[in-house]
Amino acid sequence: MTTQGLQANEQGHLVLGGVDTTWLTREYGTPLVVYDVTTIRRQIQEFRTAFERSGLRYQISYASKAFAAIAMYQVVDEEGLHADVVSGGELYTALQAGFPVRDLSFHGNNKSLAELEMAVENHVGVIVLDNFHEIDLLQRVLLAQQTSCDVMLRLTPGITAHTHRYTQTGQIDSKFGFDVASGQATRALQKVLAIPQMNMIGIHAHIGSQIFGVTGFELLVRKLMAISAQWRDQLGVIPDILNLGGGFGIAYTATDNPLSPADFVQQITSTLRELANQYQLPLPEVWIEPGRAIVGPAGYNLYTVGSRKDLPDLTAYLSVDGGMGDNIRPALYQAQYSAVLANKMNEPLHETVHLAGKYCESGDILIDQLGLPRSEPGDLVAVLDTGAYGYSMASNYNRNPRPAIVFVEEGRTKLVVRRETYADLVRLDRHYE
Ligand code: LLP
Repeated sequence: MTTQGLQANEQGHLVLGGVDTTWLTREYGTPLVVYDVTTIRRQIQEFRTAFERSGLRYQISYASKAFAAIAMYQVVDEEGLHADVVSGGELYTALQAGFPVRDLSFHGNNKSLAELEMAVENHVGVIVLDNFHEIDLLQRVLLAQQTSCDVMLRLTPGITAHTHRYTQTGQIDSKFGFDVASGQATRALQKVLAIPQMNMIGIHAHIGSQIFGVTGFELLVRKLMAISAQWRDQLGVIPDILNLGGGFGIAYTATDNPLSPADFVQQITSTLRELANQYQLPLPEVWIEPGRAIVGPAGYNLYTVGSRKDLPDLTAYLSVDGGMGDNIRPALYQAQYSAVLANKMNEPLHETVHLAGKYCESGDILIDQLGLPRSEPGDLVAVLDTGAYGYSMASNYNRNPRPAIVFVEEGRTKLVVRRETYADLVRLDRHYE
């Protein structure tokens, strides 16, 4: 988002979900993570509307690594979406939320035996197989528990998405999935077909994250339809589901220009129809796994301004009471964000500062060049669009407690994750003597 769509009240305070942010921070303290649930629902609805128009059979599965908390799984369930989990911890959280376990997919490139046992015991809807070792492990688990399960095969399609190197996953040398080019994918399929306890329902690929254009998805659909045709001809098997993963980009700054969910879905649909026709294949069901696009624009990190360092004729550092512990993305990916002074929304811009965090790292700069009104200690900074991979990648670096999380919706407020305390920080520690 840019700063334009934001709402302020007469006092010039940023209002989120009908709630004054200065009230929120008086009530819950800072740093504080706020989600506007209306935005989450709206983002979901955009994807849904696009698919409804497409006429395809489809499933939207929220990639919960973007933000996993009990309350979030509850909202996702209320909206009738599926979700995917990538660890025993995410699965546990979803179970605690009462999320319908049949609507979960389990991902990961190194699922442990214990995680597979947990998934099978709880009847997770689909296990997305990533590698040969995992096929063996899962077979062991299914035999031991005398049961069967639905699986998909994660393929490495050999597509390099135009995004940060750390968030590319579909390129040929990726650590994820069965490589298509070398024939690994076909061998994996043959192996799975020979295991009666595994029911192969589809193929999956994820090309990367924060992708702005449709080309990667178009290439992906082409690759997956080509392999479907090849498998039909060689083995008489046609995957019923194509899971295209996530990666739909969002705007963090005014220069970001991602396509809308409707554009992505439209391109996927037209390519799919063309290829189904060309290969004489039935139209598959399409699954997507958006994470960032659902929660990113809904999240805000609120901080209190503290110290300031002015270097005459050079620059100024304005420090806030959070930073890389609650949002590692600027330090890790050079990610850019927009921010506002939430208690002075009506004041003119006065200067450009480095918005610095409080962590003991020179790299702990949340925003490199931020235009702000005249500020003083005690002011409130709102960093925008922090809802994806912010709290979910948070740490206790420097033994700072992680922030609280509040959901706001149409004037209502609910604390959904409480702030960590110092006692929480030492709860796992044991004295040496
Ligand atoms: N499906 C699979 C198999 C994935 O690996 C991912 C993300 C998604 C779906 C969701 O992607 P999204 O729609 O959120 O882009 N920590 C990085 C992003 C890592 C994404 C990992 N996989 C960041 O902060 O940018």
